[in-house]
Amino acid sequence: MRAVDIISNKKNGKVHSREELEFWINGIVSNKIPDYQITAWLMAVCLNGMNFDETAILTELIAKTGTMLDLSSIDDFILDKHSTGGVGDKITLILIPLMAACGGKIAKLSGRGLGHTGGTIDKLESIKGFNTGLETKEFIEQVKKIGCAIASQTNDLAYADKKFYELRDVTATVDCLPLIASSVVSKKIASGANIIVLDVKCGDGAIVKTKDQAERLSKLMVEVAKRLNRSITAVISSMDEPLGYNVGNALEVIESIEVLKGQGAKDLVDLTFELGSILLTKAKIASSKAQAIEIMEQAIKNGSALNKFRELINIQKGCSECIDDYSLLPKASIIEPLYASKTGYVQKIKTLELANACKILGAGRERKTDSIDYSVGVVLNKKVGDKIEIGEKLLDIHSNSVEKLQEAKNILKEAFVITNEKTLPEPLVYKIID
Ligand code: URA
Repeated sequence: MRAVDIISNKKNGKVHSREELEFWINGIVSNKIPDYQITAWLMAVCLNGMNFDETAILTELIAKTGTMLDLSSIDDFILDKHSTGGVGDKITLILIPLMAACGGKIAKLSGRGLGHTGGTIDKLESIKGFNTGLETKEFIEQVKKIGCAIASQTNDLAYADKKFYELRDVTATVDCLPLIASSVVSKKIASGANIIVLDVKCGDGAIVKTKDQAERLSKLMVEVAKRLNRSITAVISSMDEPLGYNVGNALEVIESIEVLKGQGAKDLVDLTFELGSILLTKAKIASSKAQAIEIMEQAIKNGSALNKFRELINIQKGCSECIDDYSLLPKASIIEPLYASKTGYVQKIKTLELANACKILGAGRERKTDSIDYSVGVVLNKKVGDKIEIGEKLLDIHSNSVEKLQEAKNILKEAFVITNEKTLPEPLVYKIID
């Protein structure tokens, strides 16, 4: 078998056998297949697709290209959550301490931001001293001790996915359902949890733009996981506007703390509860969605969720005083408001453009090696459906550079669509696939 034959088969729309996929993944892991052949194959998969069997086999093989965590010593039920990536998506920062405060054991490996979406690890690293580089043993011991941990994915977790993802990111081959499914599910399988909820983002600011695509992707991931003996529930949620009001690393930490203090934005709270209720019922901590929501509401009301976040920051060597004093988090030197140029209702916030403006400000990366500015970003004053008067504030831009501020402002001016008719926002959750 030769690499060129595998590429040729996919180019001609053939179905790969297990042997072919094994040869392909082994060749990638042993560095025998160069990047130019891998990218040719990725494009062929994008154009000609993969059937369910191929996707399941590919997922299994990718998962096995690195460490497979064994979390069985922690508890019978180990929870995990993953998002396909959104703008202002800080749910992990809220959900992880909340689940632990409710009695769950949740072990979360996260990534850094790339492209237009942010990464949980960058957000956490905006907290002074926060150590995301836990060794596997430390990670497991921490979940046993306090019920939760959030650590950076080690380089060898689903190694082949790392290789694929870096190449996909620069070859316009990210938005391909079998590649997304095998990427997400392989990492979840390797991460070791047995109760997994996936937040599948759908809309302008997500990898998948339509409900139909999101549904097909969700079904694929749920079925592939079943084939590999894992339980995954997919929640399809809207990414037609940012989640919450804050976009940018430290700004999102502040908004997450606000939710844990009981003062969060409605969409953030609703989605956290939707995902959390699935995890709590599957882990048999709650017997119904209503009971799960009651338990979560109580954990926020009595301060235990916030305390858990404090405990998580402390044990991972971060400065937890930032919970009570936001001035301990990185703060931009310039905060400039952007005002509405007409009266009406916010019909749409162009999420991708808003994310690009944040990237220009320095909140995100173009390349993996780029450094980021934790303090910058955008704080919205209005969301879809809100009434706005001419001259009223749409948002605040947080920047450390006058030039970048101007560039971002030019994009943000075009990011709000204001109409005379009131538009109701899309439902936050479209569908749950189990
Ligand atoms: N998130 C992932 O982990 N992989 C993808 O391919 C897309 C989103």
